[in-house]
Amino acid sequence: MVRQITVIGAGTMGQGIAQVTSIHGISTRLCDVSAEALADASDRIEASVEKGIEKGKTPASARDQFRRCLTTSTDIEEACQESDFVIEAVPELLDLKASIFARVEQVVSSDAILATNTSSLPITDLASSLQHPQRFVGMHFFNPVPVMALVEVVRGAASSESTVEAAVSLAVALGKEPIVVQDSPGFATSRLGLVIGLEAIRMLEAGVASAEEIDKAMELGYRHPMGPLRLTDLVGLDVRLAIAEYLHQEIGEQFRPPQLLRQLVAEGHLGKKTGQGFHRWS
Ligand code: CAA
Repeated sequence: MVRQITVIGAGTMGQGIAQVTSIHGISTRLCDVSAEALADASDRIEASVEKGIEKGKTPASARDQFRRCLTTSTDIEEACQESDFVIEAVPELLDLKASIFARVEQVVSSDAILATNTSSLPITDLASSLQHPQRFVGMHFFNPVPVMALVEVVRGAASSESTVEAAVSLAVALGKEPIVVQDSPGFATSRLGLVIGLEAIRMLEAGVASAEEIDKAMELGYRHPMGPLRLTDLVGLDVRLAIAEYLHQEIGEQFRPPQLLRQLVAEGHLGKKTGQGFHRWS
């Protein structure tokens, strides 16, 4: 039974994970270097909890659970020292993640589990600089975390069976459906999701159809809840570009980032979070 969780990184994914852990009554420390990001995250989590209650998806008791269980901190050591589970959700930079886990390892107890929410970076590489790589695992959540049922648990070469089981049990306790996959570039979800997302961008570049029409094709023709370009906007064009660059290097040409994706990222059009991506967001 997990007593206290630290979520590192108060961006979209960190907020969603902290919302879900806190409304399930687990003491949750949300940690970020920016006090402003933490204040913004608390407001957004509260609004999302209210939306869930309003829609009848979240019990009204979640409001008190969230207020009681969620605290924030800009001090990573202080935020982690009492926790038996740490989930990192910072930007997709291997060195940044590795440096965070090196600090976390200094303060957590010897049996604490360390998890990364990376969408694609190799779990085995991240674990390799740790003193206890057997306690390291991937726990890949999906956006929006309170709504999406899946957690992709990624087994690194050194992850122990009990670590994988702990991640699976936590996912189930949070009301999610876990799958366990081997550590392979892009795991199961990002690798498949990227193929459709990148091809949709190439089709837009080639003038096959408009962004609206390409999205409608998959929404109405294949019953995807959201077309691939709108989904790229939701995930963040910068996030998708980083994954594409990594998969291009590891797997091959089918993941080469389209020029249009690079251009929009360079212009700061990152999707929903900036108000403009392949679509305009209000
Ligand atoms: N808390 C709990 N439940 C909530 C909620 C909240 N804050 N907000 C909404 N919901 C529930 C609603 O009640 C509704 O449930 P039902 O379908 O049972 O009625 C459902 O969530 C949808 O909510 P909305 O009606 O507000 O919105 P929508 O119908 O327009 O759906 C969406 C929005 C869920 C985002 C949907 O478009 C969707 O599923 N899109 C695809 C999302 C997806 O593929 N995400 C994965 C991205 S990839 C990723 O994250 C991984 C990565 O590594 C980058």
